Amino acid sequence: MTPASSTPRHSRITGTGSYLPPRRLTNDDMAAMLAERGVQTNDAWIVERTGIRARHFAADGVPCSDLALQAARAALESAGRAAADLDLIIVATSTPDMVFPSTACILQAKLGAAGGAAFDLQAVCSGFVYALAVADSMIRAGTARCALVVGAEIFSRILDFDDRTTCVLFGDGAGAVVLEASERPGILATELHADGRQAGILCVPGTVAGGKVTGDPLLKMDGQAVFKLAVGVLDSAARAVLAKAGRSEADLDWLIPHQANIRIMQGTARKLKLPLDKLIVTVDEHGNTSAASVPLALDAAVKTGRVKPGDTVMLEGVGGGFTWGAVLLDF
Ligand code: UT7
Repeated sequence: MTPASSTPRHSRITGTGSYLPPRRLTNDDMAAMLAERGVQTNDAWIVERTGIRARHFAADGVPCSDLALQAARAALESAGRAAADLDLIIVATSTPDMVFPSTACILQAKLGAAGGAAFDLQAVCSGFVYALAVADSMIRAGTARCALVVGAEIFSRILDFDDRTTCVLFGDGAGAVVLEASERPGILATELHADGRQAGILCVPGTVAGGKVTGDPLLKMDGQAVFKLAVGVLDSAARAVLAKAGRSEADLDWLIPHQANIRIMQGTARKLKLPLDKLIVTVDEHGNTSAASVPLALDAAVKTGRVKPGDTVMLEGVGGGFTWGAVLLDF
């Protein structure tokens, strides 16, 4: 690790990347797949209630670290960095390759790097925002200089395809950023919160014990309870992070919230009095990719030329735990 420097130190995103597995399922594909199990759904319901039109599913046997690897390579390339430059890797995931070692360590080896710190961070759909805030803190503290922060998920493996209220919502993918020490602030302020009393409204209650899975290893969600909490906490986190940075809603060029439901995202933008064309939306094409959703959306916004150097961007996460948070940054 690099010793702390006396120079004022900030962190800044210097590269972004993302990866979606090739298998794309439209809502009609999902409806046909579920119909074979006697489960009824349709494109109109999914679009109207969520804004989702398609999602990507990883092929059988592909581990989460492979998705992370593709996104990481793209982020390193866009930052002009090599894996050997990294002294910190954080992977936000709820669908790791194995119980241990961490997906971050597996990713480090696949990148051909060694020696820097590497660990996973588990905050479900808030995972990337949490991981970015942790990496920012470590860079500002002088314990890292060049970090790779990844959100990567294979939620298709933990979905109950007999439960139409959840299985149509989620998808697989990975997004990554390179975050580097900088004289100039990139990340302006962060806000992280949790309320563990709400653990039961969104969970995968199973675990591994005595050589087998015990409990239910599939995702359970009380959608309406999550919806109501999400709307409130996304608004409070947005206001808190703006206040902390001494900025206002009017300073925002882009809002990139967790991509779970278009109604929640548009509601958050409206409460902030933000025109809807400042809202980055990828939930239509990706579904809810949990910890991967925010970096996937950020990379899509960068690649399409919407988010540009100097833009002020707010990232927001919300999900299981219950967890939520926001990161305000100058890109
Ligand atoms: O990633 C963490 C963050 N997660 C979220 O943000 C999710 C938050 N919650 C939601 O996005 C919404 O609550 C859902 C999209 C999950 C559900 O939307 P809703 O408007 O709350 O629908 P609902 O649960 O009230 O269900 C309405 C109806 C029900 O039928 P009845 O009881 O009114 O006859 C459901 O059975 O819609 C039915 N339904 C479906 N119909 C067709 C539920 N799922 C489906 C489906 N296809 N896939």
